[in-house]
Amino acid sequence: MVPLPFDGSPELSRRQFMRRAVATGGASGLAACLDKQDRQTLDAPTGVSDPGTLPDRQHAWNDVLPVDSDGNVSRATHHVFLSLSLSNDPTPESRQRVETALQEIERALEWGPDGVLFTLGYTPAYFDRHELGLHESVDLPDPDPITAITAESQVEIDDTDAMLHLASDNPAAVLAVEETLFGDKDTLNGEAVEQTIGPVLERTNRRTGFVGAGLPADRQAGLDGIPDGQPVPEEAPFFMGFRSGFRESQATEDRVTIQAGPFEGGTTQHFESIELDLEIWFDDNDHEQRVARMFSPDHAEDGAVGAVGEQLGTTTGAKNVTDEIHEHARDDGTVGHAQKLARARDDGEPVILRRDVNTTDGDVAGLQFLSLQREITEFRRVREAMLGEQFHQYGLGPRQPNGILQYIRLRNWGSYLVPPRQHRALPQPDPAH
Ligand code: HEM
Repeated sequence: MVPLPFDGSPELSRRQFMRRAVATGGASGLAACLDKQDRQTLDAPTGVSDPGTLPDRQHAWNDVLPVDSDGNVSRATHHVFLSLSLSNDPTPESRQRVETALQEIERALEWGPDGVLFTLGYTPAYFDRHELGLHESVDLPDPDPITAITAESQVEIDDTDAMLHLASDNPAAVLAVEETLFGDKDTLNGEAVEQTIGPVLERTNRRTGFVGAGLPADRQAGLDGIPDGQPVPEEAPFFMGFRSGFRESQATEDRVTIQAGPFEGGTTQHFESIELDLEIWFDDNDHEQRVARMFSPDHAEDGAVGAVGEQLGTTTGAKNVTDEIHEHARDDGTVGHAQKLARARDDGEPVILRRDVNTTDGDVAGLQFLSLQREITEFRRVREAMLGEQFHQYGLGPRQPNGILQYIRLRNWGSYLVPPRQHRALPQPDPAH
């Protein structure tokens, strides 16, 4: 692990310090975090004595995440995404080891943003290791980025076996869980732990993320992808300057949950890492133009959004401007990202549940885009809508105000099955057999 790239200088704000510690990781990141909190140990709420009482859905996070003053589900602040590779083909012993290690975490730390939330998902490559194919009730095709996107970007496919997503408001908690699972810590939050998963699943890639009002502005200086002059608004939770994740534009957890078959109660996860290139976004567009591209030209004209989206309660209203989209393309030379995507709803209902967060991995401003949906094919349909190819006829190619396409570069793409909790430890392709 690289040493922490800071020495606790007074200019570094507490939240910058914590975010950097999570990005750095390892025992040194954890020690720095605890030190900053004036703690020897985590001192977080403890977990359950019987992990069997936790929800069957690994992705059941909404009930324990706080709701903001408008009624939207908030996201946890700190995130780590670990790509994992199996050291050997799964055996009953390795399966038991993974399950025991995860249950130890659930006993030691509360399931929630004050403790930790996590999901463990598996790629098609993992299921390809088995003779038997993945059960037909799960729609998890091999990751195959849409050609129009790969023409614009250099994309790496996640062909490891699994991904562990850890999330918490407490930066020390995500780091302590990671160290417990993959390092040699023998206590977590004051509880004894015996099992690690490191010998079974090896970390091959570590990505990090964060979200929250003020955090992107705090971190913008000197970052690749953000022009000079610190243009990210102070209150914005995301680098592009707007709130996201309004309740009415998010699928419910029920809508994204697999309804039948041996993986009933599970979901599928799409994960892509995006780099942002916001020079033109901030230097050549004024706020009104940014609103038009992110939401719709009508939102810009009506001043409907506010500085960072504070005027929107639980809905963007994007679905009310879907019919005007061709008119906007022709007459305004712009279509909005949210406007385009609202057209991909199913009978008026969003089909993907977005849990995306900012990242500064590699010192580049970016987004870890994570979404849950019942089927990967549904995600693909929504992602195709984002390309807005039907607007090329109006001169709106990918480098024009066709939503926000111009500002994003895809870097990594992966698909996962997030099984229900009972099958989360190295599942068979058909756990019923
Ligand atoms: C840098 C990248 C991105 C940024 C900054 C971004 C930002 C936003 C914002 C601000 C909204 C409106 C607020 C809301 O409805 O929550 C939104 C809506 C949405 N975005 Fe994105 N987004 C990005 C990438 C993506 C990607 C890769 C997808 C994948 C398909 C996506 C899918 C959606 C969907 C489905 C909606 C909701 C549309 C509806 O109302 O039904 N976004 N996004």
